[in-house]
Amino acid sequence: MSNRIDDTSENEDIEIRLLLEAIYLKHGYDFRNYSNAHMKRRILQRMRISGLDTIAEMQYRVLYDHEFLKIMLSDFSINITEMFRDPLFYKTFRNEVVPILKTYPFIKIWHAGCSTGEEAYSMAVLLKEEGLYERAQIFATDFNVNVLRKAKEGIFPIDIIKEYTHNYQVAGGKASFSDYYIAKYDSVIFDQSLKEKIIFAEHNLVTDGVFGEMNVILCRNVLIYFDKELQNRTIKLFLESLSNGCFLCLGSKETVKYSEWADHFDPFVENHNIYRRKLNS
Ligand SMILES: C[S@@+](CC[C@H](N)C(=O)[O-])C[C@H]1O[C@@H](n2cnc3c(N)ncnc32)[C@H](O)[C@@H]1O
Repeated sequence: MSNRIDDTSENEDIEIRLLLEAIYLKHGYDFRNYSNAHMKRRILQRMRISGLDTIAEMQYRVLYDHEFLKIMLSDFSINITEMFRDPLFYKTFRNEVVPILKTYPFIKIWHAGCSTGEEAYSMAVLLKEEGLYERAQIFATDFNVNVLRKAKEGIFPIDIIKEYTHNYQVAGGKASFSDYYIAKYDSVIFDQSLKEKIIFAEHNLVTDGVFGEMNVILCRNVLIYFDKELQNRTIKLFLESLSNGCFLCLGSKETVKYSEWADHFDPFVENHNIYRRKLNS
C-alpha cells in the first residue's frame, strides 16, 4: 500500500507560484496577481506544447532561455480584439458620453491594454464622425511590445473586415466603413489620419504608475485576467488617472462595483459598465 497523498493539484499551484516568482525576480514581469485559473491554463498548455514534464522544468527554462521567456510572455497576454467590439457599447458611448465630451475644450483618452490597436482606431473613427477628433489626444498602451508594433502599423487582415464593417454599422457609424481604409492584397491599411492623434506606448498596469489627467479611460477585457487584489490596484490607478467627473469604461464582464474604490464612482450607463469619477472624490 502506498502512503503517497494525491496532492497533485496543490503541488501544481505551488509550482506555478514559484514559476511566476522566478519570472518576476529575474525579469521584472509581474504576473503574480493574475487570475489563478487563467495562468494555470496557459502554463499547462505551454508545458504540453513544449514537451516538458513538470512546471519545475519550465522554471529552469524561463531563468536560462530568453526565447522561452518571450514565448511565455506572449502566452500570458491574450490579445483577442476587434474594431467596435461590443458595438452597442460604442453606440452608447456615442449617444451618452460624446455629448458631454463636446462640452470639453480638449479631450484626453487612454486605452489601457489596447492590444493590436483596433479599439483605439475605433475611437478615432467615432471622434472624427462626432467632430471631436481635432481636440482629442488618444493614448493607447499595452505591456506587450509585439502587439504595440502591430497597432502602430494599422494594417489588418482583409478577411475580418466584413465583421468589423458589421460592428461599425451596429455601433451607429455614420459613413461607409470603407472610407477609412484601403485594401491591398490580403490586407487593409487604415487611413494615416486615424493615427495622427494616437500615441502608442508601453505601459504595464501592474508595475507602472499613473497616466496623467484623463477625461476617458477605456480598459476593456483586461481586468478579467487579474485577481481581486490586482483589480483593486488597477481601479485605484484609474481613479488617480481620471479628472473629476470623467469616464471609466470597462468590458462587458468587468465592474468597479465590488472593488474597494466603488464609492468613488457613479454608474453612468450601468449595463455597459461606464462609470464616472465622482466630483471631488
Ligand atoms: C483581450 S485583450 C483586450 C484588448 C482590447 N482592450 C479589447 O477589449 O478588445 C487584453 C490586452 O491586455 C493586455 N494586458 C494584459 N496585462 C496587462 C498589463 N499588466 N498591462 C498592460 N496591458 C496588459 C494584453 O497584452 C492584451 O493586449
